[in-house]
Amino acid sequence: MSLNTSAKSTLSKNTKKLMVKVDDELKNILSNSKTVKQGCLDTLSSGGKKVRPALTIICGHHQNEQQLIPAAASLELLHSASLIHDDVLDYSKTRRGKPTVYAKYGYDYALKTGDFIFSSAFLTLSRCNNPKLNRILAASAFKLSLGEILQRNTAYNARQNIDLYYKKIAFKTASLFRAACLIGAYCADLGEAEVEALGDYGHNLGLAFQVFDDILDFIGDERTMGKAVASDIRDGMMTLPIFLALDELSEKSVLVNAVQNRDNSDEEILEAVVLVKQTKAIKKSRSQAKDYIGKAIASLNILKTGNIKDELTRLANLVIERNM
Ligand code: FPP
Ligand code: MG
Repeated sequence: MSLNTSAKSTLSKNTKKLMVKVDDELKNILSNSKTVKQGCLDTLSSGGKKVRPALTIICGHHQNEQQLIPAAASLELLHSASLIHDDVLDYSKTRRGKPTVYAKYGYDYALKTGDFIFSSAFLTLSRCNNPKLNRILAASAFKLSLGEILQRNTAYNARQNIDLYYKKIAFKTASLFRAACLIGAYCADLGEAEVEALGDYGHNLGLAFQVFDDILDFIGDERTMGKAVASDIRDGMMTLPIFLALDELSEKSVLVNAVQNRDNSDEEILEAVVLVKQTKAIKKSRSQAKDYIGKAIASLNILKTGNIKDELTRLANLVIERNM
């Protein structure tokens, strides 16, 4: 079951009600520019999981709507901008089952659309009139970019330390999950201990989310996921399943070559994928994702509101049960 479908029963009535307002907010913001309107609208209608704004809404305890709606929208905007740029860098043709902005309108238009949505995120968040929130989002955007640079600089190199992988996923994914939770928590004016706990929750949830994404790249179904599978090896990316498979294999050359070659054939990619699946790498990666989920849920212990704790726990469990 996809996160979208399961989320219907996972999210509370209050969250769903506010998420409709976030969608309206996004529609308003993204229909504003004549020049990049179609790319923005395509992005909006492409049906993302919207996990990040949902986190802001829940961590914001469904209070203070005036701040919470633009704040949640800003998280989805930053995330969408980063995906549009990511698809340019990866030359990706499909995302969420639809042509990417890059594939449909070309390089220049995708860059401009990404820039427009990126700046809209900060403009929208500034409506909360709380510089602390803008600082958190800016720090996260900074880390996202660093993560992306690190990823590009270390591509096609199978001989790297696994710590670099954890650093990359903390930057490129967990930082925005953490920001989503912190921004919500500050909108609800929670005390420092609760804010920190929700930040830790978001960080660990983000790590689990990315590890699971990297697992899905091996075991996922292209049609359900709406994007190409086995694209990590193709792009020379060292992900957790590859590190763990290499640890286990005595004959490493096929997998090392698959990561390091820039022009693998489909057969070579398939051979590498089959090889990884023959090891315990996927099982061990799942177990690491589950550990992160365990840590995320444990940090919720100090929360005072039981229904918020329950909803965040349900959402965390869904992250490692999804198939897209
Ligand atoms: C998707 O992950 C991409 C990211 C999580 C971050 C992309 C970040 C940038 C392009 C740089 C920062 C840009 C802005 C606008 C702040 P993935 O590539 O692992 O997954 P995928 O298979 O879905 O592409
Ligand atoms: Mg990518």
